[in-house]
Amino acid sequence: MNRAPLRVAAAFEHAHGRPPAGVWAAPGRVNLIGEHTDYNDGLVLPFALPLRCSAAASPRADGIVTARSLQAPGPVRTGTSVQPGEVSGWAGYVVGVVWAMRVEGFEVPGLDVVVDSDVPLGAGLSSSAALECAAALAVNDVFGLDLASLELARIARRAENEFVGAPTGLMDQTVSMLAQEDHLLLIDHRSMAVEPIRVDLAAHGLALLIVDTRARHRNVDGGYGRRRAECAEAAQRLGVAALRDVDPQGIDAAMAQVADPVIGRRLRHVVTEIARVRSVVTSLRAGGDPRLIGPTLTESQVSMRDDFEISCPELDLAVEVALASGAHGARLTGGGFGGCTVALVDADTAGPIGAAVADAFASAGFRAPACSTARPAGGARRVR
Ligand code: GLA
Repeated sequence: MNRAPLRVAAAFEHAHGRPPAGVWAAPGRVNLIGEHTDYNDGLVLPFALPLRCSAAASPRADGIVTARSLQAPGPVRTGTSVQPGEVSGWAGYVVGVVWAMRVEGFEVPGLDVVVDSDVPLGAGLSSSAALECAAALAVNDVFGLDLASLELARIARRAENEFVGAPTGLMDQTVSMLAQEDHLLLIDHRSMAVEPIRVDLAAHGLALLIVDTRARHRNVDGGYGRRRAECAEAAQRLGVAALRDVDPQGIDAAMAQVADPVIGRRLRHVVTEIARVRSVVTSLRAGGDPRLIGPTLTESQVSMRDDFEISCPELDLAVEVALASGAHGARLTGGGFGGCTVALVDADTAGPIGAAVADAFASAGFRAPACSTARPAGGARRVR
């Protein structure tokens, strides 16, 4: 049994002298394929992790917001009229949701929140989206706002973009809100249509091995924002609304047209990555052996390493060793510049492959990686 809701409710009661109105939990995620495509109106195929952020919350009527974390010093206390730049660190994601709700015109008269998360910070597993979505769901319920999941995801992303200042797309919040157990979530970031795709990896003797390289990234840093700007530049030079509109068959001509080798390679990554998501989805929908998608996962890694240039030595090594040790496919997952890889492996090889990666990291003088397997979990919900 998951004891996190009990623990965070007890911590809330200890801090406030009364039980919370409820406890809400939202998961972190791994993206199986479709990287840096969300803000290009493209397709992504993430799934939720069993790791989650739990938020115990109660409404207040006095214009005060308090936030505590079982993982960080605190509390943070501020007013509901707080502005971007006034709260930083983990609490910015919680207070940012209150700010975003108010900017969107919803009444939030005050809030007490205590959070408890087991999503590792900065590992590229969307610890921030888990925090935002748990907070957004809590605010939605305690004030009876009755907002749809996708609307809550959008508000959570607004907190991240405009309050915290990280220029991310909408993938992480969408999957955190809408994921289903044992399904990948196909998200079309133009129409915002979402389609759960069932995968029964265990029935095929397969598992997803997640390697946290513990090389740390931060989306607020420049690399992610620069890639976004380069994609916008490519779209502008091609005269299209978004890189989604570029036909993969005409990629060579499009690269010639942008007339800049770096912008051209960024363009090629996005266009071919969207095509790879389509190909993986077609293959999984056909219900054949999921091993068949392995090479496409690895092609995605090569594209991120060489064209989009968001890999790093730790991610490259984790992928190379996994493949050399028998993985069917492997790639970095998330924004890049550090964080995790995901590999499709035969279930009985997950342990040995993780051990081989750990050995290679020790030989290279890298920090010891953290290896685990993950089964797609459900999305954000009230848990108490
Ligand atoms: C981060 C962002 C997402 C997405 C990925 C890359 O996780 O939050 O919006 O852009 O990077 O696919």
